[in-house]
Order: sequence, then structure tokens, then C-alpha cells
Amino acid sequence: MRAHPEIEGLTPYQPGKPISETKRELGLSHVYKLASNESPLPPSQKVKNAILKAMEEIHRYPDGACFELRQAVAAYYKVPADWLIFGNGSDEIVDILVQVYCKPGDSILTSKGAFSAYFISATSVRVKTNFTELLPDLRFDLKAMARMLETDPSIKMVFLPNPNNPTGTYFSAQEFEEFMKVAGAKDIFVVLDEAYVEFVRAKDYPNGMDYQKRFKNILLLRTMSKVFGLAAMRVGILIAPPEVCDMVNRVRKPFNINSLAQAAAVAALDDREHLEQVKKLTWDGLDYYYGELDKMKFKYWPSQANFVLFDTGRDAGEVFNLLLKEGVILRPVKPYGMPSYLRMSVGLPDENAAAISAIRKVLRS
Ligand SMILES: Cc1ncc(COP(=O)(O)O)c(C=O)c1O
Repeated sequence: MRAHPEIEGLTPYQPGKPISETKRELGLSHVYKLASNESPLPPSQKVKNAILKAMEEIHRYPDGACFELRQAVAAYYKVPADWLIFGNGSDEIVDILVQVYCKPGDSILTSKGAFSAYFISATSVRVKTNFTELLPDLRFDLKAMARMLETDPSIKMVFLPNPNNPTGTYFSAQEFEEFMKVAGAKDIFVVLDEAYVEFVRAKDYPNGMDYQKRFKNILLLRTMSKVFGLAAMRVGILIAPPEVCDMVNRVRKPFNINSLAQAAAVAALDDREHLEQVKKLTWDGLDYYYGELDKMKFKYWPSQANFVLFDTGRDAGEVFNLLLKEGVILRPVKPYGMPSYLRMSVGLPDENAAAISAIRKVLRS
């Protein structure tokens, strides 16, 4: 039997190439992976201890209501506990939101160059994705999005990753205010995906928490995968009014957050020192990248996240392969319509230096 045509038309999401696979294929002893926007630091001892403790109980099902995690996240973000739902990564929450609030024939709206998870989730339930064009500086065109909302009643949800992956760009408070003058009055949801919010340095960034107090139709996505360093644990967070949480909860699998992940997340939220360390490493690493990319005269887009996108000026797939041979894994972003660009995550200082020296060798020697 054939799959549904929309599904056949999807390209599988390309995760960053694993270190082990690259070592095996190329016979390399040392490989630097800067391809998945992960935290450069391994888990702290606090997190490891929490996981070890939770291991004693893995013959039991996890707490489906995530009681302790809920309390910890509510305290961390200063939101009521019934405004929270957890997902097996925030990508699971995107899936559920689209299932709950859209039906075949409806549309979601996002921008070209936006994180691809929304399009995949929508397509999987036969919901169309409308895209606005990126502005020349790779930022979202919120004015065009507002216009589309005015004219297309099929749009039920807008997905706005801010800052965006893979561009690292963001939209400002002023742009968002203007957009919400239109979107805030409509019977739709505006989903702000703030996976990288902790890394933002821009002064005019619109933190979704502030806007959620003013607009009832804003839903917020956060994740434990980035600054908190728990990408493999898969803990995504939805912050939304209780009536939305109630609906999502009806579809969510009862044990979607395993008990090791719950324990790790509680410990990570309590480890402010580790979090500050990751932030500092990231900002220092970004500044180092900017300096080196400037020296090599590459065009890049200043980033509010933990990675930077730069233009290799050549086919990025070829450059990716040349860098692989040097033991450096970056991420080509051709599926986003950017065939000459590579995305480079911030790692530890020696990893960043290895990436830069490989780029210099491959592209500038
Ligand atoms: C914008 C954005 N949102 C969400 C995610 C996914 O996060 P999670 O690991 O919670 O599924 C990513 C991961 O790269 C991302 O870039």
C-alpha cells in the first residue's frame, strides 16, 4: 500500500551526522561535532546523581503528571503549574498542537527559512503550510505574515521560532507588537518557539513570557535540550493557558517523559551555575567565530542563539564533505533553500578553534 502523497513528498529530517559514524566511515580518531546546536558541556554531577538515583526505580512507569518537574518548571519560570505540559522534546508538542487545533484543509503559517519541524508536523496530518518570504537579512517578514492572516481564514496557527534556527536571526519587540495588533485579535494561536531564549543578547528581543500576559492566544515553547544540556533526554515545555493544556493532555501519551529525563530536568533547573557556564561559553564562542569569520571575509548573520550561519560562497554540501575529512561536522542547510550556507554550533574553545582552522584550510588556503 502506498503512503499518503503528502507523506511521500516529505524529505526526512536530516539530523547532524553522529560522531561515531563519522569516525568509522573516515577512519578518524578525533571528530568535532558542531552540527546540532547542543550544549558543549556534559551534564553536571548534580544531573548525573539525579539520573543514578532515578535508575533505582525504572521498573516502575514514570510519573505521567510529571509532578516534581511541573513544580520545578513552574518555580523556574514563575508560571502557575497548570499552565504547563511536557513533551518528548518540544517537537512532540508541535505535533500535538497541530493535531489538536487543525484539521485537513486548514493551514499553519510560518516563514521560509524557519525551523522545519512545523511543516513536517502539519503535513503529517494533511494541514497545509503557508510561508512568507524571508527578508534579505534573513529575518522574518512579520508584516507580510500579518497581511496573510488578514486574507487567509484557513490559517489556524502561526509558528514563530524566535530566535530562529538555522538563521540565528530574531524579530524585535516593535515588530512583534505590530504583528500582534492583527494576530492578537484573531481566533488563532501564535506559537512562539523560544528554544534558544537564554542565549539572546539583543536588547529589543520580545520575551514571550511578557506577551503571554497580554495576549490570550500566545503559546510558548521552551526546551531542556539547549542551555540546560539535556538534548538526549527529550524534555520540551509548553507554557499555555490551562484550557489549552487540558486539550493537549487528552492527546499526549501518558508516559511521554521518562523518569530519568524528569529527574535530570529537575536537577538541571536547579543548577544555575552550570547554566551560566553554558551561556558564557556560548557568547564567548560566538564572538570568537565572528572575529575569525570576519578575518576570513565570510558573510555571516549575527546570531541570538548558540550557532552561526555563514556563507561559504560555494556548494555547502561539498564544503561539508571536505570539512568531514578534517574531522569537523557542521550542518549544511540546503533543505532551507540556502545551498551555500553552513550552520556552525558553538562548542568548547578547542572545538571552535578546530572548526575554524579546518574552514581556513579547506576554504581559504
Ligand atoms: C527552533 C527550535 N525549536 C525546537 C527545537 C527542538 O527542541 P527539542 O529538542 O525540545 O525537540 C529545536 C532544535 O534544534 C529548534 O532549533
